[in-house]
Amino acid sequence: MNGIVLAGGSGTRLYPLTLATSKQLLAVYDKPMVYYPLSVLMLAGIRDILIISNPPSIPALRALFGDGSHLGLHITYAEQQEPRGIAEAFLIGADHVADEPCALVLGDNIFHGAGFPQLLRSSREELDGCMLFGYPVSDPYRYGIGEVDASGALVSIEEKPAHPRSDNAITGLYFYDSDVVEIARELVPSPRGELEITDVNLAYLKQGRARLQRLGRGFTWLDAGTHDSMLAASQYVQVIEKRQGVRVACLEEIALRMGYIDAEACHRLGVEARNSDYGRYLLELAETVG
Ligand code: DAU
Repeated sequence: MNGIVLAGGSGTRLYPLTLATSKQLLAVYDKPMVYYPLSVLMLAGIRDILIISNPPSIPALRALFGDGSHLGLHITYAEQQEPRGIAEAFLIGADHVADEPCALVLGDNIFHGAGFPQLLRSSREELDGCMLFGYPVSDPYRYGIGEVDASGALVSIEEKPAHPRSDNAITGLYFYDSDVVEIARELVPSPRGELEITDVNLAYLKQGRARLQRLGRGFTWLDAGTHDSMLAASQYVQVIEKRQGVRVACLEEIALRMGYIDAEACHRLGVEARNSDYGRYLLELAETVG
């Protein structure tokens, strides 16, 4: 399975923070926002990753991750000229998807919870068409919404409905088989002028090949698209990290625990960053996990 992080958009909701930088490079507590969605793909066992962003942000993203080899990944980059919709990721990334299944994660989505790697693994194994991840929210009109019947089967999907049929938000993590590129090619822009990811999901639903995996209430899903939600996400990460003494979405730690890099490589990364708590955390990990 290949992965795509979609980290573009105009970020207008976050002006003036995003006047000179992209939203996904802003801090969520102690690391850039884009670390969090990238960590999700890594936890899913995905190592071949395309990062799509707006042209001015690509150099900074490249400076952040390079070719990804220090994390045991293969990272490439592509430009989205204008925010023409989330589903455009599959047109831009068509060659990257090739004949493989693909996971897409939105660059402002944060997932955290026990058992997440196992859930990602089983969702990959069970994939037949499209796997969506649902999360109960108090403001469903702000999201894509998936309605399930008593047996748990997905029966309807709507984008930001005025009268939501359920409180199950469809999160910004999507698993698809390789048909997704053909499906994206058939899409027409919605009334707001975007290639909608919800239309991709509806195409799979029509074929009877869309499923929704519910993330329970013990799980945390946040999107950091507004000033308040960014602050809330930072505070969440701060509370967890201070309380537990472990880091959320520490990419080097995930690479080490997943076996993408060895303890020696983790130690080297720690040495490079040893003036920071983050670097000292890596040095400690290299000692204890390796
Ligand atoms: O966060 C989950 C929600 O994401 C889903 O429930 C919705 O179904 C889905 O449409 C989307 O809704 P949003 O209103 O949050 O989408 P937004 O336009 O804010 O874009 C989400 C992220 O994707 C954001 O970080 C910017 C990036 N993006 C968006 C578009 C439209 C791009 O990189 N390129 C784009 O063309």
